[in-house]
Parts: sequence; C-alpha cells; structure tokens
Amino acid sequence: MSHIEQIPPYLTWKTRHKVMYPDLDFDKVILPNDDDGIHLGLFDNNTLISVVSLFRTDDSMQFRKFATLSEYQHKGYGSEILLYLLEYSKNAGCDQIWCNARTTAAGFYRKFGFIETDKTSQANGFEYVIMEKNL
Ligand SMILES: CC(C)(COP(=O)(O)OP(=O)(O)OC[C@H]1O[C@@H](n2cnc3c(N)ncnc32)[C@H](O)[C@@H]1OP(=O)(O)O)[C@@H](O)C(=O)NCCC(=O)NCCS
Repeated sequence: MSHIEQIPPYLTWKTRHKVMYPDLDFDKVILPNDDDGIHLGLFDNNTLISVVSLFRTDDSMQFRKFATLSEYQHKGYGSEILLYLLEYSKNAGCDQIWCNARTTAAGFYRKFGFIETDKTSQANGFEYVIMEKNL
C-alpha cells in the first residue's frame, strides 16, 4: 500500500541522481535552494519510489526534479504524486502551478491539464519546455 509524505531534501537526492542524472556527479542534483522547498516522497512497502520538490513564489508553485525509480515507472505512482501535489498547491492557496518539463514528459503533464508555453531550453543534453496549469 502506497503513501505520500513530506521528506527532508537529502532523501530526494539519491532518486534524483539515479533516475535523472546518473552520468553527472552526485553533487549536481543538489539544488542551492533545496532547503527552501517542500519535498514529497511516495513510498510503497517502505520503499521510496517517487520524489518531487515544490518551490513557491507568491501564489505560483513550481515543481522540480520529479522522478520515479525506473523499475516502478508506468505503474501509476507518478500520477498519484502529481495529483497529490496539485491538490496540495491548491489548498496552499496557489492559483498557478508550473514546471520546466523534459519534452519527453510533456505528454504525461498534458494529460493533467498542463499547457506548453513557448519557453523552451536545453541543458545537460535534454530539451525542456515550460508547462503551466491554472489551479
Ligand atoms: C515522468 C515520471 C516522473 C512519471 O512517473 P511514473 O511513475 O512513470 O508515472 P505514471 O506511471 O503515473 O505515468 C507514466 C505513464 O505510464 C502510464 N501508466 C500509468 N499507469 C499505468 C499502468 N498501470 N499500466 C500502463 N501504463 C500506465 C501513464 O498513462 C503514463 O503514460 P504517458 O507517459 O504516455 O503519459 C517518470 O517517468 C520519470 O521519472 N521519468 C524520468 C525522469 C523525468 O523525465 N522526470 C520528469 C522531468 S520533467
């Protein structure tokens, strides 16, 4: 049985590194403002399976470093934590949520009502597009 809870920043780092940037030095997955974020972890049978980090500016919530362990992907865990953070952000009084999405994940976010903007970028060999949703 799965559950989602707030976790300290350092607990996200291993999953971020393993899933998103296995070829980079471990230190590169640590964000300078990690201490200012709200970090969520989805656990199933005490295994940390999916992580995501939220950063609020005024009434806008950004989520970053969303990662599900590869062997657990496509099983619905990401959707579970995404629905949770949408509700969390709405309840916190935010009226907008956004992310700098890897273009490979854009279809996934579209399913949840996120809309692609014209703001695109590239970094570390990945292409990104900013996607947003009104809450
Ligand atoms: C993006 C990511 C976090 C999604 O997490 P996830 O746990 O795989 O998410 P879900 O399982 O809920 O959904 C993923 C896909 O599986 C599908 N899916 C969900 N449950 C499923 C099931 N039981 N059977 C088959 N497919 C299923 C979803 O429809 C979705 O399809 P889509 O990608 O075509 O939209 C994950 O793929 C990941 O970590 N990717 C690598 C890092 C990354 O790109 N992070 C995002 C950066 S912006």
